[in-house]
Amino acid sequence: MSPEQKALIRESWLKVAPMADAAARLFYDRLFELDEATRPLFKTTDLAEQRRKLIQALTMVVQGLDHLEALVPTIADLGRRHAQFGVTNAHYETVGAALLWTLEQGLGSGWTPEVKVAWSGAYALLADVMRTAASESASPPAHSAHREHHRRPSAGGLT
Ligand code: HEM
Repeated sequence: MSPEQKALIRESWLKVAPMADAAARLFYDRLFELDEATRPLFKTTDLAEQRRKLIQALTMVVQGLDHLEALVPTIADLGRRHAQFGVTNAHYETVGAALLWTLEQGLGSGWTPEVKVAWSGAYALLADVMRTAASESASPPAHSAHREHHRRPSAGGLT
């Protein structure tokens, strides 16, 4: 991601910040509209709390854009927890689409092609780290011999 793209992400996130809760509401509505099957994942979730957590996580990423490598262990942990919530690889596509759509609603004319490309790239990075961590920590199926499968040392120890 270029410095210009990081600046576009920071600036656009600042514009969304004052309406973050409303944006997060739009986001979950859109997610459930795009894929009704994601709704049961949040069956026991306090959605007001969840909106805060999502905004907080995205704010952490936006503020950490210059040192994303320092956030990798945290993002990887988040990805591993998501696998336990029942989140699959395909869900990340839908969530990405819902997120970009929400930003577009929030930013209006500020949603330029450049801003779109910057956010798409940032989300792809995030989703990639989360999915990779989730798949690396997945138990190998019982019927296949994964003899060469060794757990890596926790990324948290590498900081
Ligand atoms: C960049 C992508 C994502 C971010 C930043 C994100 C952020 C978060 C955060 C911060 C939490 C709070 C729980 C925790 O920290 O362990 C959470 C929970 C959750 N997320 Fe995500 N998430 C992402 C992608 C997804 C996707 C693709 C799905 C699938 C639909 C999903 C579904 C859930 C569910 C079901 C929970 C648990 C809610 C509960 O506690 O009941 N998330 N997410």
